[in-house]
Amino acid sequence: MCPFWRREDEDLLTLDQEVKMMESLRKAGVLFLGFEGGEPLLRNDIGQILEESYRRFHTSLVSNGWLLRKKLPEIKDNLDFLFVSLDGIGKTHDTLRGVSGSYDRALDGIKAAREHIDMAISSTITRENMDQAMDLVTLARDLKVKINFQIAYDYSTAEKESPESQALRSTMEKLVEMKKAGYPIMNTVEYFQSVINSWYNGISWQCKPWLTINVDPTGNIVMPCYVINEYSGTYKVWDTDINKLWDSYGWGEYESCNKCALACYLEPSLFSWSKPSQVKSRIIDNIASYLHHTQIS
Ligand SMILES: C[S@@+](CC[C@H](N)C(=O)[O-])C[C@H]1O[C@@H](n2cnc3c(N)ncnc32)[C@H](O)[C@@H]1O
Ligand code: SF4
Repeated sequence: MCPFWRREDEDLLTLDQEVKMMESLRKAGVLFLGFEGGEPLLRNDIGQILEESYRRFHTSLVSNGWLLRKKLPEIKDNLDFLFVSLDGIGKTHDTLRGVSGSYDRALDGIKAAREHIDMAISSTITRENMDQAMDLVTLARDLKVKINFQIAYDYSTAEKESPESQALRSTMEKLVEMKKAGYPIMNTVEYFQSVINSWYNGISWQCKPWLTINVDPTGNIVMPCYVINEYSGTYKVWDTDINKLWDSYGWGEYESCNKCALACYLEPSLFSWSKPSQVKSRIIDNIASYLHHTQIS
């Protein structure tokens, strides 16, 4: 699905290094930390890592769900939000993920976790699964969880998954309709509209990659974003004055880059306090969901 499993070069950070990384990020003003991977639940010390993170940040994690039921007791009290990836229904998901049984394991993980953690399905749209995006939304509604989409970026090693253009446009339009009809889609309407405007109508969004700090598996900061630098960086996070680096970096040339639609970069880029729908989707709905979840758990 993604190219990261092919990496052979890194030693994983130790727990001490993870904590050093968190301290540097916290001092630089970071408020949210998301663990992505690879597969974060493969770490034997994931419970301790999350405990350290939860003390400092709003903490989230993306998992393929395979180990979720088993690891739930270790992680559930130190997570604000959990994403479980589903890239299609049944066989489609298994084929994209390359391991049969992945769909059933992910679904089982979702059913185990949804009572304990505020969560969503995370789904990446590719040529192979775009016809199932609407079924995934219905599945999320039936499971009583949310769903968040992003369009696959053809990382250099995953080109074949770049979606066909007109079918992609129609899928995004249908998702906007479903969002407006009240289905539990987390993306803002502006997310889909910005991609349609840019990729089909030539009206660009302004990308602000400086709003997201990406750290690679060796503890290096990836700049300007992990699409352009293929998830590999040069500045060790705990040896860097992040604020100084941020102020001196030449971000300007990336404002007009509309190359990817990764939600972790595009959604923050679109946020503005002057857009009521954004304030509702990104702030008010999330506070309501947080309060609801705190009350039931
Ligand atoms: C790289 S995965 C790692 C986390 C976890 N192992 C999982 O399977 O979700 C994190 C997110 O990136 C998404 N992703 C995978 N391949 C992608 C691609 N080619 N383009 C965009 N997103 C992708 C996944 O669907 C998932 O939501
Ligand atoms: S559009 Fe994507 S690739 Fe381009 S700068 Fe923004 S995050 Fe990076």
